Amino acid sequence: MVNTYVLASITLLLSTVAFAAPQNTTFDDQDFARITYTNPNDWQHYPLEGYETLFYNGSRSYTYVLGAYATFTFIGTGIYFQGPYANDQAKRRVILDGEEVGVFTAYAPNRAPSAVFWGTRNLLNANHTVVVSHNDTATEIFAMDAWIVETDPEATISPPSTGTAASSPSLQIEGSAGAGTLASAGSYRIERLGITTMAVLAYTCLLLLTQRAI
Ligand SMILES: *[C@@H]1O[C@H](CO)[C@@H](O)[C@H](O)[C@H]1NC(C)=O
Repeated sequence: MVNTYVLASITLLLSTVAFAAPQNTTFDDQDFARITYTNPNDWQHYPLEGYETLFYNGSRSYTYVLGAYATFTFIGTGIYFQGPYANDQAKRRVILDGEEVGVFTAYAPNRAPSAVFWGTRNLLNANHTVVVSHNDTATEIFAMDAWIVETDPEATISPPSTGTAASSPSLQIEGSAGAGTLASAGSYRIERLGITTMAVLAYTCLLLLTQRAI
């Protein structure tokens, strides 16, 4: 009797956790309400004729101009850039929340389907801004295809990995949201796991105690 109760409860709890698992949402390069292309005249938004199937939504946005950039603002815990791979794809520079991340390539000897060329996760669940720019010679093309945002519902209850535990973790997150700093991957994951495990254990103990009392 007791075991059935406890098992059912744990299953219920775990399924709740599963529903709260991280999720990806893909935004197309043509989402002009969310993506700002600077300077607009340096960018083209035509599909690559005959190769549409290699792209998300069949579309792309591209530039040959050194320094031309695209800006995207999102709320989430991760961000991934997707673009075509080819032998003429320009090096591209990524800036996250005002900090240089690095210069990345999307080289392939032969034209290949659009794929992730840069991404990061374990960000604070807050507002972030990413900028990606053409960082190569004018013979190379920089093409963007999609922006993938990762959201993690559980992250909202997770306090930042640094600092002491606050009595109000969610408030603490909000307070540090503006900073947009990267949480260290290792400790952040442990925190997520820790919260889940502790919730399951606490609930199980509670149930066992209740059963005993009856
Ligand atoms: C989101 O997409 C990235 C890049 O493809 C992938 O590495 C990551 O695992 C995805 N996250 C989820 C929750 O599916």
